[in-house]
Amino acid sequence: MSDDKFDVVFIGGGPGGYIGAIKAAQLGLRTACVEMRGALGGTCLNVGCIPSKALLQSSHLYHEAEAEFARHGIKTGGLSVDLKTMMARKTQVVTDLTTGIEGLFKKNKVAYIPGRGRIASPGTVLVSLSAGGERSLTAENIVIATGSEVMGLPGVEIDEKLILSSTGALSLSKVPKHLVVIGGGYIGLEMGSVWGRLGAKVTVVEFLDRITPGMDGELSRNLQRSLTGQGMAFRLGTKVTAARKVRGGVELSLEPAKGGDKETLKADVALVAIGRKPFTDGLGLAEAGVAMDARGFIPVDEDYQTNITGIFAIGDVLPDRPMLAHKAEDEGVVLAEKLAGHAAAVNYDAIPAVCYTWPEVATVGQSEEQLKDAGIAYNKGRFSFAANSRARSSGDTEGGFVKLLADKSTDRLLGAHIIGPDAGTLIAELVLALEMGASSEDIALTCHAHPTLNEAVKEAALAVTGKPLNS
Ligand code: FAD
Ligand code: NAI
Repeated sequence: MSDDKFDVVFIGGGPGGYIGAIKAAQLGLRTACVEMRGALGGTCLNVGCIPSKALLQSSHLYHEAEAEFARHGIKTGGLSVDLKTMMARKTQVVTDLTTGIEGLFKKNKVAYIPGRGRIASPGTVLVSLSAGGERSLTAENIVIATGSEVMGLPGVEIDEKLILSSTGALSLSKVPKHLVVIGGGYIGLEMGSVWGRLGAKVTVVEFLDRITPGMDGELSRNLQRSLTGQGMAFRLGTKVTAARKVRGGVELSLEPAKGGDKETLKADVALVAIGRKPFTDGLGLAEAGVAMDARGFIPVDEDYQTNITGIFAIGDVLPDRPMLAHKAEDEGVVLAEKLAGHAAAVNYDAIPAVCYTWPEVATVGQSEEQLKDAGIAYNKGRFSFAANSRARSSGDTEGGFVKLLADKSTDRLLGAHIIGPDAGTLIAELVLALEMGASSEDIALTCHAHPTLNEAVKEAALAVTGKPLNS
């Protein structure tokens, strides 16, 4: 077989493409992955999940040392931020992880082809090689896993110096005095937290009258309250109509979302975080006849096949699904299984979402608003971290709770919502419960180690039937 003939070629080496490629190779398919950014791991590892979590951790430690250590009886000397070292650590974490994927590719016999891929025709991918020259790959199956890019705002030109996307916000060389974040979603709140903890005044301008749309409303309100307590300011129901560079920073034009008087807001830097859009530039989709929707997303059938036989799509380029790394990974695995002739499916009702602020917020399944809209009767169990002995010992109780929603007649778990310490880890048992069709009683009858934060999950399950033990 020729070096350039494959069973499957993934275009894009992000969480969807690289995980899908490893799985396909493990299942015996001759697999290649084309990636143009010079490193594997996609948005997530290079300029998304991982660098943001590295900075969230560093800034959290600084905040703890500054604001919390004294309460534990720990005295510190003059505390200061060495941003250069913090950024270098972040870069090292990213480099270690992305080069690790190259090792995984070798181990699993995935051909890594650095370069920009284009679908020349169904069955053929033409790669403009990063090292120069072109290479033509033939593949029975082509997978578009090219991810997403930042969505711009009319009248606001991103230069990554004064007006930033998340990528620029991950690499500032000094702590801004005033950061204005446009968009109160995941990126805005996480990056706002990083720079707020390091000393910036942070103002979040959000179009809607709430932050984190889609999140259970009670959690969203509690998150806003906690972040406000940390010094973050919110301008809800407000839109940014223009941004212009002025001496010493940026001047933003704001107006009420519903219309009204304009005002201006000055900042050192502004971050545009109003969502992301599919990235399919230069892929040759129109020429190959691959259909896209009005917003550029690629619709697929239940086998992730586009309208063209043998061309598939996974990850952030798909419409009407959350843009999350673990969702892209699961789609990559399921598609690989399907291409290898196995039955597989992603359960979109059990995809967790985690906002890595402090407190963290983690959710899976349906929110109270969704259940009410669907007319589904439910019981609610809520347990506060203030009554959890481990959270009390750590001093991490502020505003946090676990809320479980279970079907009123069957007790089957329908939704789980946590705001509090390590919520992103705590949600895992509830994702499993949802996946297994467990009832709140199943969770309540499961032994949870003491003293752990997980006991709050058990107590919330007990509370569904009104009988928590510790509150
Ligand atoms: P991507 O990760 O975008 O990967 C696509 C890859 O394809 C890119 O590397 C690109 O260079 C490459 N590519 C594109 N076109 C071509 C071409 N023609 N030829 C070759 N290569 C090409 N999600 C979470 O679940 N948790 C988080 O904590 C989280 N944090 C985030 C923080 C930030 C700041 C951002 C921006 C995103 C975050 N996300 C997070 C979202 C997550 O990064 C995405 O959902 C995920 O990366 C999508 O994976 P993907 O494989 O679909 O695409
Ligand atoms: P988002 O969709 O989470 O939030 C965007 C926010 O901007 C929304 O609240 C929206 O109402 C608001 N908005 C839209 N237009 C606006 C305007 N003109 N003015 C003011 N506000 C406006 O998008 P975000 O934060 O950019 O993140 C993109 C994607 O990346 C998300 O879909 C998310 O899934 C993913 N992500 C995930 C993370 C995680 O899992 N922890 C972390 C960061 C990003």
